[in-house]
Formats: sequence, C-alpha cells, structure tokens
Amino acid sequence: KHAACQIDKAYTIADIDPKLYGSFIEHLGRAVYSGIYEPTHSRADEQGFRQDVLELVRELSVPIVRYPGGNFVSGYRWTDGIGPIDARPKRLDYAWLSVEPNHIGIDEFVDWCKKANTQVMAAVNLGTGTPQDAGYMMEYCNHPAGTYWSDLRRKNGHKEPHAIKTWCLGNEMDGPWQTGALSAAAYGEKAREAAKIMKWIDPSVELVCCGSSSPLLDSYPEWDRIVLEHTYEQVDYISMHRYYENEDSVENFLTSYIDMDEFIKTVAATADYAKAKTRSKKTMKISFDEWNVWYIQKQVRFPWMEAPPILEDQYSLLDALVFGGMLCTLLNNADRVKMACLAQLVNVIAPIFTEKGGRVLKQAIYYPFQQVSTYGRGKSLKTLTKADCINTPDRGMVPAMQTAASYNDEDGSISVFVLNCEMTEDTEFTIDLRSFGKVEMVEHSILAGPDLFAKNTFEHPLAVVPKNEIPVVGTTVFQIVLPKLSWHVFRFF
Ligand code: AHR
Repeated sequence: KHAACQIDKAYTIADIDPKLYGSFIEHLGRAVYSGIYEPTHSRADEQGFRQDVLELVRELSVPIVRYPGGNFVSGYRWTDGIGPIDARPKRLDYAWLSVEPNHIGIDEFVDWCKKANTQVMAAVNLGTGTPQDAGYMMEYCNHPAGTYWSDLRRKNGHKEPHAIKTWCLGNEMDGPWQTGALSAAAYGEKAREAAKIMKWIDPSVELVCCGSSSPLLDSYPEWDRIVLEHTYEQVDYISMHRYYENEDSVENFLTSYIDMDEFIKTVAATADYAKAKTRSKKTMKISFDEWNVWYIQKQVRFPWMEAPPILEDQYSLLDALVFGGMLCTLLNNADRVKMACLAQLVNVIAPIFTEKGGRVLKQAIYYPFQQVSTYGRGKSLKTLTKADCINTPDRGMVPAMQTAASYNDEDGSISVFVLNCEMTEDTEFTIDLRSFGKVEMVEHSILAGPDLFAKNTFEHPLAVVPKNEIPVVGTTVFQIVLPKLSWHVFRFF
C-alpha cells in the first residue's frame, strides 16, 4: 500500500488557538469525588485535591476546563456549592440520578484550576435556572466588590474576582434527556437574555451558545440556525458535541474523523447563513466542547448513589487510534474551531483513571492527546495527502489515512500527525517537506500493536504506550514504512 503527504509552509489553515486542547470536569460519577478530590487520599493536598491526578493533568497541557457540566448543570443550583462546606445541602442530581454532596463548588474549582495550570470555562444553568441566576453567578465570580454577590465571594475567601473569561449558556438544550430541554426558539430567547445580563456585568467575557448536541437528532441543523438567529450578536461561539463508539464495523469506527469533519463543515455553513441573515460582520467561532470515544450503549446506572462508578470506559489501542484521527480533524478545522474540550478528564470517559484511595493510571487515549496538545501548537498547515482506499460499510471507499500538521514559528519545528487506517498491510509513506528547505526528522513516535483491544490496567499500565522509532534520514522528502493500524507523530527541525 502507498500514501504520500505534501506539506507546504505557505498553506496555512489558521493559527491554532491553544484552547483547542481544553477538557471537561462534570459533577458526574467519580470525576470530582475520588477523581480530582479525595481528602482522605494519601496524596491529597491541604484542600483535599489529589496531587497524583494534578500531576497527570499538568502533563497534558490543558489550557481550559469546562465545569460543572454537562447534563448536570441543567438542574444545578450553583449557590449550593458555595460557603462553609459542612453547611452545604445534599441534592438529587436529575441528570445522572446521583446524590450530589456539594463539597466542591465554583470557588474550589477555581482553586483547583490554578493548581492544574489551567482556566475555568464555566457553564450556567439554563434548564431550571433563569437568566437572572446566570447574572448572579457572573456577579459572584467576576464583579470586584461592593455588591451582595461579589461581597459574598469575598466573605467566602476569594478577595480577588475569579475573572472567568469563558462561559457556556447551558448545555445540550436540544436533547430530550436534558433537564428543562427547550425548543430552539425558546432556548435562543433565553440564551440571548442571559447573555445580555452576563455581558452587562462583565463585557470582557466570551459566551458559548448551545449548538446541536448531535447530528443524529432530528432537530439538526435547524436548531443551530434558529439559535444563532436569536443570539448572533450576543455570543462568540456555537458549541458542538460528538462521541463515537465501535458498533459493528472497525472500518466505520476508524474513519469517524470523516463524520466529525462533515459535522464541523455543516455547523460552520449554518453559522455563515445566520451571519448573512442577521447582517452581521462577525464570523461565529465553534467550540467543540465535548468530543471523545464513548461506549454510550454499554453504560450502567447506580441510582441515587454519591459518586457512582459510571461512564468509566476503559480505552483500547483501537480507541486511541480513532481518537488520534479526531484530533487531526480538530487541527484541520482550526480556522473555525477555536476551542474544544476533550470530554472528559478524570474517571468519566477520561484519559486519567483513579482507584478510590489508590493508584492513578494513564489510559490509552492519554498519549495521543498529550502529543498533539504538546506539539500541535503554532499554525495548522494543510496536508495534501493521497492514500490507497479502504472499504467502509457506511462511507464506501475512503482514503486509509488521516493527517494533520503544525508549524511552530517560535522554535521552527514541524509536527506531522498520521493515523494509518490500513487494516491488512504495511504502507510505504512519503512526507514531502520541500517548501521548508532542508530539515531533519528528530522524532518518530508510533502507537501500534498486535492486539487492537489491548488496554492499560493497574496491573499492566504500559500495555498501550507510544514507542520511539529511529527517525529516518532525509533532507526534504522522507520515506517511512507504516505498519497497519497505527498512529504516528513525526517531528522535524
Ligand atoms: O460527557 C457526558 C455527557 O455527554 C454530558 O453531560 C452531556 O453534555 C453529554 O450528553
């Protein structure tokens, strides 16, 4: 099999916004309790945050973390999570049928983010909550002092405003599963009114309105059009959410990035229609604020438990390959996708997995995320890739390769990311970097293996980890043999 990829320094897609490598912590399962927070753990710090988890989060270089949901936020009273911890109420969480103890709230999460070298992307409740509740939360977090809510924050130990810059106007309000789900017009009006209040209080904030939570819903893409026609001038981003799972065909699953790309292009086109319709001069940015592999159909529930072990997917090599393809698609759409959140970060469909009271583990998907988040900085470059095709049941014959590239003008490095979907044979692969003059390949990392379903476990934590190959010698054109079903990161200087 053959494939070739040509990259030209002049073919820039866009500057890569660092927020493309965001993630997500929801009050869901063990993401918070025994995930990021476990006061009785031997590695807990003075606030009860697990330092072993913080170390792995920092290694991922995640610039922003969405919080507190997700579906959870649509029935959440943010005021339950402030003030003395012992006095906070326990509540039923309708989204996940759990009991929420409220030991962590916005103040503690801001502290955690500082420790994790990241920033908060806060979501307000537009399910059971009102635009005024959203305004009160903005006042509590971002207003300096001298009013009821800002002085309450100061009394609760945070003298300086949290200065949270990025806010979500609710979550998945098109989903019938959402607490307080709304029609597109009703949500558009509610989101616009919340946005007006929030920006009056702090004009420097950026707001994300809910786009389609899945292209599989009947309301897609009309939802996006209607919502944007109501909110275009008040918001800065429209959100997208998409998860993939291996249903009945590895070929379909591997090429999920094609579906993701089409989804992005459709939402961008719909946003551009709304731009024309509203006579706006602004181009709407996309926040792809939930994406991952998620075995939704295999989920179990443990109703009315605190921190139940739910959505604890264990990721395989195959999942990590699919995940790499999705990361390439985000980079290839860096002109429109200015923010994205890997959903989620700890325990719940996550790259980091903990034992309650025990160890912490890097799941297979941890590695491609870390690699692209570390090296996929600077400018996203167009990759012109030709590859032999594979046959997929849903998409027919499609090229067996997904690629993306970045050029970091600070250090002059070029990074090339490659998912090889070829299922049966090695591929002779050429990377053509002629436009850069003479360069040297300094690193070739590969994720592959004989068992597609191998997973990292506490007993075998290194079952799925990238390995370094000896970089091939070349000056402008590089020829490499790629094993079937493999993920690669090439680095050049
Ligand atoms: O990330 C898990 C859930 O998936 C989120 O709560 C929700 O927004 C989406 O349906």
